[in-house]
This record gives sequence, C-alpha cells and structure tokens, in this order.
Amino acid sequence: MNHYLQVAQEIAREAGRLLLAEFHRPRAVEYKTEVDIVTAADRKAEEFIVDRLHTHFPQHAWIAEEGSRRESETDYCWYVDPLDGTTNFAHGYPVFCVSLALVRGSEILVGVVFDPVREEMYHAGQGEGAWLNQRPIRVSAVKSLSESLVATGFPTRKRHKHPNVAYFHRFTQLTHGVRRDGSAALDLCYVACGRFDGFWELNLNPWDTAAGVLLVREAGGLVTNFQGGPFRLDSEETLATNRQIHAEMQQVLVQATAEAARG
Ligand code: IPD
Ligand code: CA
Ligand code: CA
Repeated sequence: MNHYLQVAQEIAREAGRLLLAEFHRPRAVEYKTEVDIVTAADRKAEEFIVDRLHTHFPQHAWIAEEGSRRESETDYCWYVDPLDGTTNFAHGYPVFCVSLALVRGSEILVGVVFDPVREEMYHAGQGEGAWLNQRPIRVSAVKSLSESLVATGFPTRKRHKHPNVAYFHRFTQLTHGVRRDGSAALDLCYVACGRFDGFWELNLNPWDTAAGVLLVREAGGLVTNFQGGPFRLDSEETLATNRQIHAEMQQVLVQATAEAARG
C-alpha cells in the first residue's frame, strides 16, 4: 500500500478514536449559521489531523473544514473533514466519520474514511482499488431503480434554494427507500461497498466528497453531476451510483428539476 494511504489511515484512526472519546462526554454546540453547527470535537480533531499532516508531509498543502489552511509550492493538497456528521454527533446519533483525501490538481489520489463507532476503515488509492477493513469492496449489482436503496442529504446552507425535497419525494416513490443518514462521506462509502445503490446531494464541499468519490470510482461505480457531466471537486451536484442505475437516477433528477422550475 502506498505511503500516503498508510499514514492517512493511521491519522484517521487516531482522530476517530478522539471523536469517540468526546462522543461519550457532554457535548456543547455552537452555531456557525442558523442550522450549521460545530462542536469542540470538530476543532480538536482538525487540530490533531493538520498537526500530523504537517509532521508527515511538510511540503503538502491542506484545506480543512473548520478553517485550517496551508498553501504550498507543490500541487499536493489534503482535504480534511475532521468530523463528517456533526449534527448526528451533537445529538448523540452514532453516525459520523473522519474523511481525508489527497488531491493533486484535479486528481484524487488517496481517500480514507474512518467510522469509529463501527470500527470501519474505508480506503482507496487511484488505480489501486477500494477497501473496507483491508478487504476489497465493489458496488452493488442492482440493475434497476425499482430494486434499489438510495441515499441523500440536505445542505445546512441555503436550504430553501434547492428542490431536494422534490427529489426525495420522487425517489421515495420509485425505489425500495431513501435514507438520509447525515454523513455524505459515509453515504458515498456505502455506495462503494454496495449497501446503497445510489446517492445524490447538492452543495457539498470537497472535504465531504473527495475521499468518498474515489472510493466509489475504485469500487467500480460512477460519479457525475446531475446531467451526467464530469464530477469536479467544486461541482454543486453529486450523483454517485453503482453505474447500473445511473441513467435512471439522472433522468429522475433532470425531470424533477424541470418540474420544480415550472412551479
Ligand atoms: C454535512 C454532512 C451531511 C450533509 C451536509 C454536510 P458536516 O457535513 O455530510 O450529510 O447533508 O451537506 O454539510 O457539517 O457534518 O461535516
Ligand atoms: Ca462534512
Ligand atoms: Ca465537518
């Protein structure tokens, strides 16, 4: 396994254990915006992660959700979500993770997601496959939307601006069900290992998506925007599937968008 992956897994595991220790203590919440919350654990984990990245990769840049940034001469940059699933964490709902990805230019080289509650370590290296607890994973073989379980999430910012409830409504009628578990990084990993057949969301950030997107691709899945165009780290739309139901999901999203625009 490449050195970046090995170190990223060690860091994610330790940061995850730190989160779990905090999870069992009383948790105070601060508001970044109306519903966008942050806890001391987000900041503690971020501080720990960027400190370790700096020790191991002094030449690399990083961008972390809670505000830590480092520029560098190289084009290697780590995207860090120290706690994906903060709302769950703050309410004592045990679904959250640490997400780390190494990106060079627009290429995602390494992705690591660690769920400390289930002790599940997901990792992927570009061209090296996708793994859950060191075993290779593949997307599901489900062939149609009508037999699928899909997932989504709702952004904490500009919630009124996007028709996600309309999409949610439509997919609920067309699938076995829609899950909204509150951690985009884990949602993507669940597509990668076949627990979900598809996932869509609006307005995610690169620290939410980078690691999970590589997991999906390396597990044989497909990630695009809602029109089927290339997914980029600054894309407003993320559609990730097992490939087989991609066209069907895309069609539902495009149709529901057109209907919402007509009012
Ligand atoms: C959030 C989670 C959630 C998604 C939100 C994200 P955070 O990240 O990934 O599932 O629906 O859009 O902001 O704030 O818990 O790191
Ligand atoms: Ca996040
Ligand atoms: Ca976060």
